[in-house]
Amino acid sequence: MSAPPAAVHAKLGRMDAIHALAARLRRARHILVLTGAGISAESGIATFRDTQDGLWARFRPEDLATPEAFRRDPALVWRWYAWRREQVAAAQPNAAHRALVELAQRRPVTLVTQNVDDLHQRAGSTDAICLHGSIMRSICSVTRLEIGADWLAAQTGEPPRSPHHADGLARPGVVWFGENLPADALDRANAAARDCDAVLAIGTSALVYPAAGLPALAQRHGAWFAEINPQPTPLTPTADLVVAQAAGLALPAALAAWEDA
Ligand code: OAD
Repeated sequence: MSAPPAAVHAKLGRMDAIHALAARLRRARHILVLTGAGISAESGIATFRDTQDGLWARFRPEDLATPEAFRRDPALVWRWYAWRREQVAAAQPNAAHRALVELAQRRPVTLVTQNVDDLHQRAGSTDAICLHGSIMRSICSVTRLEIGADWLAAQTGEPPRSPHHADGLARPGVVWFGENLPADALDRANAAARDCDAVLAIGTSALVYPAAGLPALAQRHGAWFAEINPQPTPLTPTADLVVAQAAGLALPAALAAWEDA
């Protein structure tokens, strides 16, 4: 299906867009949902690229989110992730996370997230595919084996030593710039993109690949594509439907419109 011109999006009013979304999702055979930091914004977790509060507006990724940064100053990196982990632990899933659980009860959904928080899982999406790992897990810097919470709690170092290798340190279980995504997660996400007939990108700036390439892959295999984001992204001109609203409003509204759509 070819994308309608952007002007068609602009003509759809807020409720028309919600109804169009509900109508298409209701008859979908398999929905691929791709989420980014924006879906957790309404839980109080900072996004990366929002101009005021985004993490990358306040911190330099090359100081904190690369293997080189960890080699240079492991304590700084460890403490920064510990600070973010505390924020995630204190946050709660929001209406958008919960709506995706409900959507999966109505239609087959593959949920792929770039988020390293655990809010999808805590909302009930226990089978979310995590392309960028998890901030709640720690792994060995040498072997990448997971390190248990009991071991970490018994250590004093910042970062703690790894139980898996004499030269290893505990590091966050996330994917850093310059690192490969977990192959199994990426394979499953790509397979879902090839199989789905509807793809929904929610709260992502669509600037980081390969995640940002999933909607286009799905479209090449014939899927319809909708974006939920209050701001335009590089994918906006390619979308069949744009819902320019906060996810915590748009998704529950689409579920509420389900029967009428
Ligand atoms: P970004 O911070 O780049 O983008 C967040 C998007 O969410 C923006 O397009 C916002 O307009 C949108 N947004 C904000 N509030 C929203 C709301 N309430 N509802 C819907 N959308 C909203 O975050 P990501 O696209 O997730 O990588 O960033 C991709 C990757 O870059 C992240 O996974 C991270 C980062 O560096 C790693 O950690 C490896």
